[in-house]
Amino acid sequence: MKKITILLLAALICMVPLFAGGAKENAAVASDTVAAKLGIKTVTPGVFTVATSPDFAPYEFYSIGADGTPTLAGFDISLAQYIADYLGLKLEIIPMDFDGTIMEVQQKNVDAGMAGYSPSPDRAEAMEFSAVYYTGGQSFVTTKANASKFQSLADTNNAKMKIGAQIGSIQVGLAQENSPKADIVQLSKVTDIIAELLNGSLDGAYIETAVAESYAKNYTDLAIVLPVPYDQEGSVVGISKGNLALLEGVNQAIAQALSDGSMGKFIEQANELATGNIIEGLLN
Ligand code: ARG
Repeated sequence: MKKITILLLAALICMVPLFAGGAKENAAVASDTVAAKLGIKTVTPGVFTVATSPDFAPYEFYSIGADGTPTLAGFDISLAQYIADYLGLKLEIIPMDFDGTIMEVQQKNVDAGMAGYSPSPDRAEAMEFSAVYYTGGQSFVTTKANASKFQSLADTNNAKMKIGAQIGSIQVGLAQENSPKADIVQLSKVTDIIAELLNGSLDGAYIETAVAESYAKNYTDLAIVLPVPYDQEGSVVGISKGNLALLEGVNQAIAQALSDGSMGKFIEQANELATGNIIEGLLN
């Protein structure tokens, strides 16, 4: 009898560390989340780490509050928070130049890139594409003074012209396709492209239509002159290649954001904030 009690006691004592270990793990990463159910692994456990390029209102930009403090805003940022909440993860957003976001996703330093990505075929090697969460279009942009020079895309194909496009973006491809004779000037920020258009260093530029419209409200000299055809229209989240559990979770969250009206609200809020006091580009 005594022997059995001692054995039982010994067994119980051995089990204590097991329970304690289990409790510790649960404290770090909650087990009842969508992320846990789908078996999602992230770069930092419990955190959805996202790279973005905040030179792209209304997708992502800095909104300056009444007290002068800049905060990341835009419908990509709202959607990133919605996805993180849906998955039960904390959100960490890392701002950088656009081509950097693609590299960080490709090198798996982040879980995802949310920067108005077009699902371009040459990018498919570097990342998984989520479902489309926003459908926009592409435009050729110039200044009001030069607008009449551009009656069709053929007028952009001129050896005397300097035409801008953001480094690493599909707009570089659009420029090469439609304006091969022009001097195609690649700049790292859309903000710089707008500045160079306005000061006359560029004759025109290829920009996402929603972004061009947003800038045109703040810089009234800008003119959106021509729509530009593009096959892979729509914006997607770029997800770390091979992270199919995360892809599934992100797609579930996007489907819900589209059907419950959240995405519509995010776009509306972003458009409103983008016409206010903002910084487009990186903070120094
Ligand atoms: N949609 C284009 C692309 O995927 C441009 C995106 C640029 N995004 C940005 N945040 N600057 O290449």
